[in-house]
Amino acid sequence: MANPYPLLKEMRQHGKPFWDDELKMYLAPNHVDANAVFRNKSLGRIYKPRTPEFEWGTFNWLHSDSILDSEPPKHTRLRALVAKAFNRQKIEGLRPDIERITTELLDAISEKVRNGSPFDLIADFAEPLPVKVIAALLGFPSSDEYLLRPWSQSIVKMYEVNPPLQHQEEAKQAANEFAEYVRRLMEARKLKPGSDLISDLAAVEENGEKLNAQELIATCVLLLNAGHEASVNAFGNGMVSALQRPDQADLLLTRPQEIAITAVEEFLRFDAPLQMFDRTATEDTQLGGVEIKAGEKIAALIGSANRDESVFERAEEMDLTRDPNPHIGFGAGIHFCLGGPLARLEMSISLPALCERFPKMELASEPVRRPTFVLRGYESVAISTG
Ligand code: HEM
Repeated sequence: MANPYPLLKEMRQHGKPFWDDELKMYLAPNHVDANAVFRNKSLGRIYKPRTPEFEWGTFNWLHSDSILDSEPPKHTRLRALVAKAFNRQKIEGLRPDIERITTELLDAISEKVRNGSPFDLIADFAEPLPVKVIAALLGFPSSDEYLLRPWSQSIVKMYEVNPPLQHQEEAKQAANEFAEYVRRLMEARKLKPGSDLISDLAAVEENGEKLNAQELIATCVLLLNAGHEASVNAFGNGMVSALQRPDQADLLLTRPQEIAITAVEEFLRFDAPLQMFDRTATEDTQLGGVEIKAGEKIAALIGSANRDESVFERAEEMDLTRDPNPHIGFGAGIHFCLGGPLARLEMSISLPALCERFPKMELASEPVRRPTFVLRGYESVAISTG
C-alpha cells in the first residue's frame, strides 16, 4: 500500500489481463485493457447484495438503487436526471462559491500557522473544500456538514477486500443513519423547496413517477459521497508527490497559476485516488485476448493504467506540465465520472490559491497513509509554511 507501483509495473509485463486467485477476478493492468473494461457492454456494474438481507437492507439499496451500481435502462434514467446539474456551464457557475470557500479556508490556515506551527493539508484544506462545495450544490445544511465525511468513510470501508467485522458494522450503521437523514431532508424540501439539487430531486418524486423514494435517496447519498471522497485524496496524493520532488515542488510553487490545469491532470494520473473498479460479465465476452465467462469479474487497475509506459512517456515520473495526459482517473464509458468537471474546477482554483498563499510550503514530517488500496489517500499531511 505504501507504494504499489513496482508491483503494478510487474503486472503490466504480462501484456494482458490475468486471473488473480486471491481476489477471484481478472485484473487488467494495462491502459488499453483497463479502458476496455469500462467500455465493454457485456461487462456491467452488478451490485451483489450483502447478506443477510434483513441486516444489510439499507446498505444494499443505497448501492443497488444508485447511479453507480445500476445498468441501463435504470442507469440511463438516473443519470439523465442528475446530469443536467453537472454540465460544464452549471458547474462553471459555482466558480465564485469555490473561490470564496477556498479563501475562507486559507484565511483560517493563515491564522493557525501564525505562530509557526504546521497545518494539516487534509483536515484543514483538501477535505473541507469538496465537502463544502458538494454540500452547497445539494443544499445540505452547513451546520451538519461534519456528518458527511464520517458517514462516507464508514461506508467505503466495505469497498476494500475482506473488510473486518467491525468495519462491516460501521458501514451498516452509517448507511442507516445517512439514508434516514436524507429521507427527512427530502421530506422537508418537498414542503419547503429551495433552489438546491435536493429540492429539485424531491420534486421529481412528487411530479412524475420517474424515480422512487429509494432511488432518490440513493442518488443524493452517492452524490454527497462521490462528491468529496476521491477529490480529497486526489489533492492530497498529488500535493505529497509534488512536494517530495524538488523540481516539481519548485515549478508548482513558483508558477502555480500558469501550470494549474496540467498539474491537476497529473495529480489524477500520477497517484490515482481510486485505484480499481470491477465489472461482472453479463454474458461470455473477450477482452485483451482473455475469455471472460458470464458471471466472472474483471477489474480495471486505474493507477496502473495511468503509469502504462506504452501510453505515457517517462510514465514513472511526475511532470506537472504533461500534455496530453490521457489518464483514466475518471473512468470511461457509461459510468464516466459525472463530477469530473466539478472536481477539475475545484482543484484548478484551490491548488494555485494554496501555492500562492504559502509559496514556501514543505512537508513537515512523513505523511501518514490510510491503510487502504482501492481508495488511495493520506490520513494526514503536515505542512510547514516556511
Ligand atoms: C478527483 C475526484 C474524482 C475522481 C478521481 C472520480 C473518479 C470516478 C470514477 C473512476 C468513476 C467511475 C467508476 C466506475 O466506472 O466504476 C466515477 C463515477 C462517478 N463519480 Fe466521480 N470522481 C471524482 C469526483 C467526483 C465528484 C466531485 C462528483 C460529484 C458529485 C463525482 C460523482 C460521480 C458519480 C455520480 C459517478 C457515477 C456515474 C455513473 O455511474 O454514471 N465524482 N468517479
